[in-house]
Amino acid sequence: MAAKVGVGLLGLGTVGGGVASILQNPDERHPLVGELELIRVAVRDLNRPRPVALDASLLTTDPSAVIQDPAVDVVVEVIGGLEPARSLILQAIAAGKSVVTANKAVIARHGQEITEAAAAAGVYVLIEAAVGGGIPIIEPLKQSLGGNRINRVSGIINGTTNYILTRMAEEGAAYDAVLKDAQELGYAEADPAADVDGLDAADKIAILATLAFGGSVDRAAVPTEGISGLQGVDVDYANQLGYGVKLLAVAERMAVSGDPLPLSLRVQPTLVPMDHPLAGVNGVNNAILVEGDPIGRVMFYGPGAGAGPTASAVVADILNIAGIRQASDGPGKVDPLLAAGSWRPCALADSGDIRQRHYVRFKTKDAPGVIGNVGGCFGERNVSIQSIVQFNASDAGAEIVVITHEVSQRQMNEALEAIQALPEVSGLAAHLGCL
Ligand code: HSE
Repeated sequence: MAAKVGVGLLGLGTVGGGVASILQNPDERHPLVGELELIRVAVRDLNRPRPVALDASLLTTDPSAVIQDPAVDVVVEVIGGLEPARSLILQAIAAGKSVVTANKAVIARHGQEITEAAAAAGVYVLIEAAVGGGIPIIEPLKQSLGGNRINRVSGIINGTTNYILTRMAEEGAAYDAVLKDAQELGYAEADPAADVDGLDAADKIAILATLAFGGSVDRAAVPTEGISGLQGVDVDYANQLGYGVKLLAVAERMAVSGDPLPLSLRVQPTLVPMDHPLAGVNGVNNAILVEGDPIGRVMFYGPGAGAGPTASAVVADILNIAGIRQASDGPGKVDPLLAAGSWRPCALADSGDIRQRHYVRFKTKDAPGVIGNVGGCFGERNVSIQSIVQFNASDAGAEIVVITHEVSQRQMNEALEAIQALPEVSGLAAHLGCL
């Protein structure tokens, strides 16, 4: 029988607890799970209550002791945050250990450095759990869809915000109470601002873009807007017009080819037509729609956060490494599909060139000719309107909601500037994307 594969865990929080629980209960799972042995676990505080019962002798407060333990073959980093997580991943690679991590923040910013270090050391860094919780999306992009030219990856990739938006829409629940539930259920980041401000989704779309288009992108340059500024009235109007509102992340190519390949990435609250496959993605679920040639459209759907789903993805990665290890008997040359390094430069396009449909709401006077003047400003800048509706007209004023056809951000900004200069328009109250 092949030797057991030693696993060292860095972190025993929500995800770490879920991983330990799978490793301790291998029955009726793939037989290779039974070949994994939890060797050591690094925790911050030895006396904290644990989500899973573990032999106290496995625990240490020294992550280096886990990494350097000769019986540890695979290091699982589920601490989160940028440091010390990044340094510990690099330390594990330098020690010749393959790494499994759920850390989207580190991979989105330091993925290239880490991939290069892993390739040089002949080890793997696998990240299935970093995007989409339990949904297999990383391996499909690296392997199963490798024969396609990917044109667009879009989706709902933050469970916390989708859970909040769904409960607010379905129950009229209060934002703060729902966020608290999401934290208790283990969905939210340690600092939930990362979820509600769209930063977590931006990390994830940057990672998906790298895999889909073959080159890393500047994470800091991804236009990002979360849901904290989203107003209930816009969700209401969107519903009346036949749309749901989702926090959508999008990465698409702006040209057939290029050196660097121009890409457009963004995260923003977006109107989704009720009959679109992403509109029915509710609660903590995520979905990623991949559009490629020749496959067309393929959608990956499932629970996007939480201990069990995320641990499922982590263990899948450990199994991949364990399988290769057992087949090859130790580190050596890496499988280029599983290792998935970049193969060309990519660059983010000017955000003015991003083309999409838009939803805007203006506060205006309820006066003759307002709709005509607003429509005229759009027409003069070649922005074609799909629908224009006036809501709530009264002495106090009116609200005009416009949904445009697809238009560049630059044209849209010019039109919005002109409209806000109209004397009868008192302000732009909302501006969302629209699929
Ligand atoms: N906070 C993240 C989410 C966890 O809500 O999606 C999974 O990455």
